[in-house]
Amino acid sequence: MRIIGTGSSLPSKIVTNQDISSFLDTSDEWIVPRTGIRSRHVISDERLEDLGASAALRALEDAGLEACDIDLFICSCVVSEHVTPGMSSLISSITGLRCPCIDINCACPGFVYAMDIAESYFLAGKVNNVLIVCAEEPTRMASWEDRCTCVLFGDGAGAAVFTTGDNVKAIKLYSDPDPGIICQKHSLIKTPYYTGQDEDTPLHLSGREVFRFAINTSLKGISDVLNESGKTKDEVDWFLVHQANLRIVEGIRNRLELPEEKFPVNIADHGNSSSASCPILLDECRRNNLFRRGDLLLFSAFGAGLLSAAALIEW
Ligand code: ACO
Repeated sequence: MRIIGTGSSLPSKIVTNQDISSFLDTSDEWIVPRTGIRSRHVISDERLEDLGASAALRALEDAGLEACDIDLFICSCVVSEHVTPGMSSLISSITGLRCPCIDINCACPGFVYAMDIAESYFLAGKVNNVLIVCAEEPTRMASWEDRCTCVLFGDGAGAAVFTTGDNVKAIKLYSDPDPGIICQKHSLIKTPYYTGQDEDTPLHLSGREVFRFAINTSLKGISDVLNESGKTKDEVDWFLVHQANLRIVEGIRNRLELPEEKFPVNIADHGNSSSASCPILLDECRRNNLFRRGDLLLFSAFGAGLLSAAALIEW
């Protein structure tokens, strides 16, 4: 498969570090050096499905396709107001998509997991065009009384359209189960029979463990996709790393001893938008005309689960 269109959509409300420090004991001076984040887009009066639909329509327009041309729609979304139907159905109802749609919850690496699923459908000869949308509102997962988490996140949606081609050089998915490291729980309907204790807790993350995991798994993923494709790190034109924390991106880059120019970042004004981070970054780079035909793009993402993934794709 190959990418023929990208799109993204962000909430209109921008919340700066200064805004947060007006109601929490934090500061721009603390947040910027540790995370690289200065502001983030936060859902206020929008619905997540509308952001997802708008990203999808932009990607379709970019690809020169209509909703009816899409054979399979995969949507990555960690949490939304709807338990059911899935975000893919909600977005389909707005965009006019009528193809089979699948929801995945693979946390921050969701875009790469979705690409791997899409690639399998292409290889099986079942599809001609696939749409992937990652729509996320992690600002509604963290407690806004917890300075350790809420400052890290931003909302948004990113999308990409794929058609037949031979541009996927390698995709690797990993699972290293440790559910407590990044975790949020919500209560379900009470029944006369359920005997457990319901928990309704905001997002918890063990920052230092995530930091270590992110760098180690990213380096492994990058090394594995390079080995599988017979490419070297110097042949890669662009490293699109999940925008969780600028220091994580820098940690990966420093260990690879590669120049800053190869690692586009947008975390300063987005924060961490979970699985939407990679396709939003992809769309912004593409609209800034960063990519040339034949460029090698290496995606690397990591998150709750713990899951991680890497993919090498020719533009
Ligand atoms: N403002 C001011 N002080 C803060 C803030 C804040 N926003 N956040 C934490 N602190 C304080 C803590 O309360 C603590 O104070 P204490 O010592 O008095 O208890 C102190 O800073 C140290 O807290 P740590 O959590 O140990 O801070 P750390 O240096 O590890 O930095 C951070 C936290 C930025 C989250 C770091 O661990 C990190 O970058 N982790 C990577 C994980 C990440 O970015 N996750 C994003 C989501 S998950 C994902 O996408 C995969």
